[in-house]
Amino acid sequence: MSKQLEGQVALVTGAGRGIGRAIARALGAAGAHVVAAARSQKEIETVAREITTAGGRAMALPLDIAQEDHVGAAFAQVRGKLGRLDVLVNNAGIGRFGPLVDFASADLKQVVAVNLLGTFWCCQQAMRLMIPQRRGYIINISSVVGFKGYPNQAAYTATKHAVMGLTKSLAVEAQPHGIRVSAILPGGVDTGMVGDARPDLDRSILMRPEDIAQSVMFLLSLSEKAAVDEIYIRRRTSQPF
Ligand SMILES: NC(=O)c1ccc[n+]([C@@H]2O[C@H](COP(=O)([O-])OP(=O)(O)OC[C@H]3O[C@@H](n4cnc5c(N)ncnc54)[C@H](OP(=O)(O)O)[C@@H]3O)[C@@H](O)[C@H]2O)c1
Repeated sequence: MSKQLEGQVALVTGAGRGIGRAIARALGAAGAHVVAAARSQKEIETVAREITTAGGRAMALPLDIAQEDHVGAAFAQVRGKLGRLDVLVNNAGIGRFGPLVDFASADLKQVVAVNLLGTFWCCQQAMRLMIPQRRGYIINISSVVGFKGYPNQAAYTATKHAVMGLTKSLAVEAQPHGIRVSAILPGGVDTGMVGDARPDLDRSILMRPEDIAQSVMFLLSLSEKAAVDEIYIRRRTSQPF
C-alpha cells in the first residue's frame, strides 16, 4: 500500500532537534522525501539518518534562515536535487527572553531575523517553486504567543504575532495558485527552548514534540477542498500555559 506522502518532497526548517525533528520523522514515516534543514550539520545528518534507517528518504540541508542568500541557495539545491517542493514546514525559531526595559538590541534583531525575516524568505522561495506546480502546502509554526502575551517575552511574542500576519496574508495570496498556508500555534512543548523561556515550569506536564508533528500530519491528511487557517494546541490544563 502506498504511503500518504509518497512521491512528495517536504522541507522542514529547524529539523535538527525538538519539534522540527519530530515533524521531519513523521513526514519521513509517511513516505515524503524529507529535507532536514538547520545550522547544526551534525543534528540534521542524525535526523536524516534516523529517517533513512526507518526505511524513508531524507537529505540534510545546512541552512541559516536568517541569511537571505543562504535561503536562496538552499532552495536552489532542493530544486536541483529533488526537482520539486510539496510541503514546507517553517519550524525554525529562537527565543530570547527577559524584561523589555533591559532587552538588548542584538537579541531583538536576532529574534526578528530568524523568526520573522527567515520565515518570510523561506515562504518566498517555496512559493517560487510551488506556483509552477500549482500545488503545495506551507505550514508555519507560530506559538500561543502569536495570539496572546506573556511577560518577558515581548520580542518573541511580537515575531510570533508577525508570523500570524504573514500566514493570513499569504494564505489568501497563495489560494489561487492551489497552495495552502496554515499556522500551528503550540503552547508549551518539552524541548530545549521551553527550558529557557519558562525555567519555572515542570517539563513533565508539557506536550511532546510528537503532538505538534501529528498536527502537521492532520493538516496534510485533509483533502485539497479543505482549508485550515490555524491550529491552536496547548497542554491539557484549566490554566493557560
Ligand atoms: N517548545 C515550545 O514550547 C514551543 C511552543 C510554541 C512554539 N514553539 C516554536 O516551535 C519551533 C521549534 O521550537 P523548539 O522548541 O523545537 O526549539 P529548539 O528545540 O530550540 O529547536 C529549534 C530548531 O530551530 C533551528 N534554528 C534556530 N535558528 C535557526 C536558523 N537561523 N536557521 C535555521 N535553523 C535554525 C535549530 O537548529 P540550529 O540551532 O542548529 O540552527 C533547531 O533545530 C520554534 O519556531 C518555536 O518558536 C515552541
